[in-house]
Amino acid sequence: MSMSPSSTAPTIDAALSLSSATKSFGAVAALTNGTIEILPGEIHALVGENGAGKSTLVKILAGVHQPDSGRFVIDGAEVTFKSPADSKAAGISVIYQEPTLFPDLTVAENIFIGRQPRGRLGLIDRPTMRARARELFSRLGVPIDPDRVAEGLSIADQQIIEIAKAISLDARILVMDEPTAALSGVEVERLFAVSRSLRDRGTGILFISHRFEEVFDLCDRITVMRDGAFIATHATADITVDGLVREMVGRDIATLFPKQEATIGEAVLSVSSLTRVGVFSDISFEVHAGEIVALAGLVGAGRTEVARAIFGIDRYDSGTVHMSGKALRAHSPQSAIDAGMGFVPEDRRKQGLVMDLSVARNATLTLRKKLARFGLINSKDERRAAEEWSARLQVKTGSQDLSVATLSGGNQQKVVIAKWLATSPRFLIVDEPTRGIDVGTKAEVHRLLSELAVQGIAVLMISSELPEVLGMADTILVMHEGRISARLSRDEATAEAVMHAASATSESAE
Ligand SMILES: Nc1ncnc2c1ncn2[C@@H]1O[C@H](COP(=O)(O)OP(=O)(O)OP(=O)(O)O)[C@@H](O)[C@H]1O
Ligand SMILES: [Mg+2]
Repeated sequence: MSMSPSSTAPTIDAALSLSSATKSFGAVAALTNGTIEILPGEIHALVGENGAGKSTLVKILAGVHQPDSGRFVIDGAEVTFKSPADSKAAGISVIYQEPTLFPDLTVAENIFIGRQPRGRLGLIDRPTMRARARELFSRLGVPIDPDRVAEGLSIADQQIIEIAKAISLDARILVMDEPTAALSGVEVERLFAVSRSLRDRGTGILFISHRFEEVFDLCDRITVMRDGAFIATHATADITVDGLVREMVGRDIATLFPKQEATIGEAVLSVSSLTRVGVFSDISFEVHAGEIVALAGLVGAGRTEVARAIFGIDRYDSGTVHMSGKALRAHSPQSAIDAGMGFVPEDRRKQGLVMDLSVARNATLTLRKKLARFGLINSKDERRAAEEWSARLQVKTGSQDLSVATLSGGNQQKVVIAKWLATSPRFLIVDEPTRGIDVGTKAEVHRLLSELAVQGIAVLMISSELPEVLGMADTILVMHEGRISARLSRDEATAEAVMHAASATSESAE
């Protein structure tokens, strides 16, 4: 058996091998050479820039898309999937970033939907179904109640349920498209432990992520894609991060975190004793012109909740928010926007975009009011503003007129960022600005944030990525259980100090 790097010949004992698959959507060639081989008992990473064709390849494996050409072999036999059901029947289970459970059904019902165990008289045998679900969870080592409804479960738990379902279906291939994007560190560890134990029992796993630490920590082999085409497959031990990046982007990239020195001016945003009972309390800080303040902490520490309250999306019980000395009305995004505040939300698919509208319309959605006020609005201006920001962020789309729903996940995120940058805010909140964004564009987003600061804009950045926090921020506020547990200046901040203040074991960083 040959496992030499960049070998494309199907290995005899591969569980799955796709070679030279192509897929176009109208004029857009999403995939020009979709090639991947997954062995039983390996965890195989698929990496590439936003729009490289990873999700399109996954959807071919899942039977969602039919390839225009190519060869697809499972266990030595060529297959053609006409639907997702065919893919399932062939032993492939796919877990998407946003799980697809039925919210009204119980956990056990979700696992066994369509194939519930039945007793005499053909009635659903609930006790058996429950017991089997419980058995699956104990095997996975997670305490989830099979009888609760799926609604309200964390994304992490929903993913584990999808995995339980995959196991109960005896899936031999498990595909996970950016499963960790919305998980906290502990949840990622749990997902990895489960993945490793499945691998050790012979399951072949395909894992997609933009985070290199995860790829190198978890995966046995790595396949790189660029512009819809296979570039190479490597054993993880044979490749470095730099080598991988070069293959992904086809060039060396500028350094991450290119922070420029900005002059820090007067306070633009002042938050004083902001409290929402049970969620966050006594939050006070300022963000000055030219300053980037990072809000660090674990997922669930209350960072997004504070940001939403500042912007007026959520209410708060006491405290004040001032922009340049002027108090903002509570619970009024309009008041915040009028005062020059912008907000790039964390969940960009749900909160940031209108999926059916075109890229151009989405990018200019917040701009319309401003342009209309000066009688300037027309489709030419709209197009120009959208094109300018989309180009700077390297949004990959066939045309500005396509609906954003057709963009790759990372490219949708860029449209939301472009939209807010185009409003020229004086104070900008960015919640997890580079989540789901590839390594090349990440550098570009960091450069943009840094440039905005140099232009005198005040920036509040929520980020779970320590290198991003340490690399970009002038001041770091660490939140723990709804309170600010540490304030660190750029000079005194270290990874240890931030983690220490963020974790449950301490109240302050020394
Ligand atoms: N239904 C569709 N109609 C038109 N274009 C599409 C469609 N689906 C995907 N594309 C295009 O195909 C290309 C590949 O997209 P894909 O979603 O596979 O990228 P990806 O590698 O998963 O990126 P990301 O890391 O951002 O998730 C993109 O340019 C995308 O806009
Ligand atoms: Mg994708």
